Amino acid sequence: MALRSKFLALFLIHICLLLSLCLAADPFVSYDFEVSYITASPLGVPQQVIAINGKFPGPTINVTTNNNVAINIKNKLDENLLMHWSGIQQRRSSWQDGVLGTNCPIPPKWNWTYQFQVKDQIGSFFYFPTLHMQRASGGFGSFVINNRAIIPIPFDTPHGDIVILIGDWYKRNHTALRKALDAGKDLGMPDGVLINGKGPYQYNTTLVPDGIDYETIEVQPGKTYRIRVHNVGTSTSLNFRIQNHNLLLAESEGSYTVQQNYTSLDIHVGQSYSFLVTMDQNASTDYYIVASARFVNESQWKRVTGVAILHYTNSKGKAKGPLPEAPNDEFDKTFSMNQARSIRWNVSASGARPNPQGSFRYGSINVTDVYVLKNKPLVTINGKRRATLSGISFVNPTTPIRLADQFKVKGAYKLDFPETPLTGPPKMATSVINGTYRGFMEVILQNNDTKMHSYHLSGYAVFVVGMDYGEWTENSRGTYNKWDGIARSTVQAYPGAWTAILVSLDNVGVWNLRTENLDSWYLGQETYIRIVNPEETNKTELPIPDNALFCGELSKLQKPEDISFAASITGNRSKLLFMLLMAVCALMSVFG
Ligand SMILES: *[C@@H]1O[C@H](CO)[C@@H](O)[C@H](O)[C@H]1NC(C)=O
Ligand SMILES: *[C@@H]1O[C@H](CO)[C@@H](O)[C@H](O)[C@H]1NC(C)=O
Ligand SMILES: *[C@@H]1O[C@H](CO)[C@@H](O)[C@H](O)[C@H]1NC(C)=O
Ligand SMILES: *[C@@H]1O[C@H](CO)[C@@H](O)[C@H](O)[C@H]1NC(C)=O
Ligand SMILES: *[C@@H]1O[C@H](CO)[C@@H](O)[C@H](O)[C@H]1NC(C)=O
Ligand SMILES: *[C@@H]1O[C@H](CO)[C@@H](O)[C@H](O)[C@H]1NC(C)=O
Ligand SMILES: *[C@@H]1O[C@H](CO)[C@@H](O)[C@H](O)[C@H]1NC(C)=O
Ligand SMILES: *[C@@H]1O[C@H](CO)[C@@H](O)[C@H](O)[C@H]1NC(C)=O
Ligand SMILES: *[C@@H]1O[C@H](CO)[C@@H](O)[C@H](O)[C@H]1NC(C)=O
Ligand SMILES: *[C@@H]1O[C@H](CO)[C@@H](O)[C@H](O)[C@H]1NC(C)=O
Ligand SMILES: *[C@@H]1O[C@H](CO)[C@@H](O)[C@H](O)[C@H]1NC(C)=O
Ligand SMILES: *[C@@H]1O[C@H](CO)[C@@H](O)[C@H](O)[C@H]1NC(C)=O
Repeated sequence: MALRSKFLALFLIHICLLLSLCLAADPFVSYDFEVSYITASPLGVPQQVIAINGKFPGPTINVTTNNNVAINIKNKLDENLLMHWSGIQQRRSSWQDGVLGTNCPIPPKWNWTYQFQVKDQIGSFFYFPTLHMQRASGGFGSFVINNRAIIPIPFDTPHGDIVILIGDWYKRNHTALRKALDAGKDLGMPDGVLINGKGPYQYNTTLVPDGIDYETIEVQPGKTYRIRVHNVGTSTSLNFRIQNHNLLLAESEGSYTVQQNYTSLDIHVGQSYSFLVTMDQNASTDYYIVASARFVNESQWKRVTGVAILHYTNSKGKAKGPLPEAPNDEFDKTFSMNQARSIRWNVSASGARPNPQGSFRYGSINVTDVYVLKNKPLVTINGKRRATLSGISFVNPTTPIRLADQFKVKGAYKLDFPETPLTGPPKMATSVINGTYRGFMEVILQNNDTKMHSYHLSGYAVFVVGMDYGEWTENSRGTYNKWDGIARSTVQAYPGAWTAILVSLDNVGVWNLRTENLDSWYLGQETYIRIVNPEETNKTELPIPDNALFCGELSKLQKPEDISFAASITGNRSKLLFMLLMAVCALMSVFG
């Protein structure tokens, strides 16, 4: 018996060595995330926030194109958890996307390992928990994918890489916010804007109370840094700026942009940008870093402003004076939209692969499917306040969509999402878009609400080809940018305006299309696009992972022993070996 397990161990070690040799080109990177509540006082009042490994915000995931990433999540919250990798395309594997329509949740006290390859992607993304409004309490962090060394980036290597997470923030936790929404109330004005989980620097003693811990970013004079900014907030569009410094825009959610200077840039909920910032000032003082609410009554929202400090190592004093001004465009609603239109793709730069980004000539591909999605103000359905998209308020399936397909569970959802908004009364439904594999879809996001929204599609980068005020018509196509529209995963739709995107449906799976505004998302403003390859092949989608969780109609398939914390398996060697083998198999399947 002992001999046999020794042989088995040797055999496994050999397999591992062999595999690690053949996998040498695409290294395996792993992270352990323990998700729990901690007490923090970002706005001066103690509250429970969601931390990762005791940190709020969570650590940066920093990997290189084509790395195989494993993230073992230990759920120490008192509720279910799913972690989402926003903007990470999860090629061929919506099994790893961390949203309720595709994955069963990780129950409290359980752990689960996400495993995916960051295939052919570079850029700035972030992760966050998707259930129960949890993002409003934290659990987020930056997700950086670097270029492979052999593929040059379209600028000089920066002196350093800095992550800045900005977002509106409530002193109430996600449970309390959820209760408000369940009771049919609005969330109301946020209590502040956090920068890297910290409250504002006391730039004004009337507006900012004493004793708030603020973020300080230390830099060396004369050097250029890449600053990655993510709006991880609940629902507020933020204007980002650094006093006296130009922001040279370089990348947005995985696309290198045409490099242009901005004194400030509007960053909508869920969006990410990289700026190159040269520390070219004289360091007579520190400088303010500001994230302030956009499209709101400024005199009422003054308190809701994030302020951090840019500190040169040779700085001679504290930041002083008023904050740098936000765009003064109260009477010019096209200013922000024109800025958005000015963000363009650098067609000659290489992205993750050596060929230029623009070699995918999206402008010459024929559209196969058109969907006009309409966002309207909240409605009441069956006595409940709900958010809709095209008249449908999404109800999450009890059995996740792709899992239902795999195990032939009937009636989990309907592939009947309408191409144009419903004209009848709004309804609640598990209604999903029937995507055409290898189709080229045009989606119009018509925002008929009075609030800004941003929309995110999982699994893909979409081409942002147009936006304008008023109602979209077929004639609007004449204004599309068919050459250097930016490719990204999260796009804004201005109130009373439309945004048009194009997407090449080449990634098999079921992918979430949602508003990033947490309140509307929670109230049902989302759907999924289901893309299946009609051809019977296992090449276009990875098999269901060995550790897949089961729920809903399939909950009887869930084996309790599949889920165990480290404590219960250490000291049990054969189980450990088994786990190792499982990991190896999962790895092999990534390359299958
Ligand atoms: C959230 O806040 C409520 C009310 O303040 C409190 O009772 C509850 O314990 C908090 N929940 C968490 C998970 O922090
Ligand atoms: C749970 O975590 C342990 C290590 O802490 C790991 O070995 C095991 O694979 C994890 N279980 C799952 C289902 O991911
Ligand atoms: C676009 O990318 C090219 C190739 O890397 C680079 O040389 C050029 O400076 C970039 N152009 C702009 C305007 O950013
Ligand atoms: C990622 O890691 C590299 C070294 O491997 C480092 O140079 C870079 O600054 C890191 N980026 C971030 C955002 O942490
Ligand atoms: C601080 O803010 C208050 C309220 O907006 C304003 O009246 C006051 O002038 C500000 N103080 C300074 C020193 O700017
Ligand atoms: C951007 O501004 C910096 C000064 O902050 C300047 O050196 C640089 O040439 C500008 N770049 C472009 C592309 O305008
Ligand atoms: C440094 O720059 C500030 C702002 O541009 C200017 O007011 C100040 O006179 C400069 N100080 C020195 C020592 O050059
Ligand atoms: C903004 O709020 C202030 C203070 O509540 C109010 O006096 C003012 O009329 C508001 N401005 C607009 C344009 O609504
Ligand atoms: C697109 O459609 C037009 C007209 O229907 C057709 O002539 C053309 O060949 C198509 N282009 C491609 C790339 O399929
Ligand atoms: C979904 O679309 C495919 C074509 O892409 C079609 O064959 C199929 O019948 C459609 N399914 C439903 C339920 O409409
Ligand atoms: C919403 O749509 C209605 C009907 O088309 C239109 O009258 C109204 O101006 C729109 N409002 C916004 C904010 O788009
Ligand atoms: C995929 O299909 C091929 C041919 O049908 C088969 O040989 C192979 O084992 C399958 N691979 C996986 C990972 O299921």
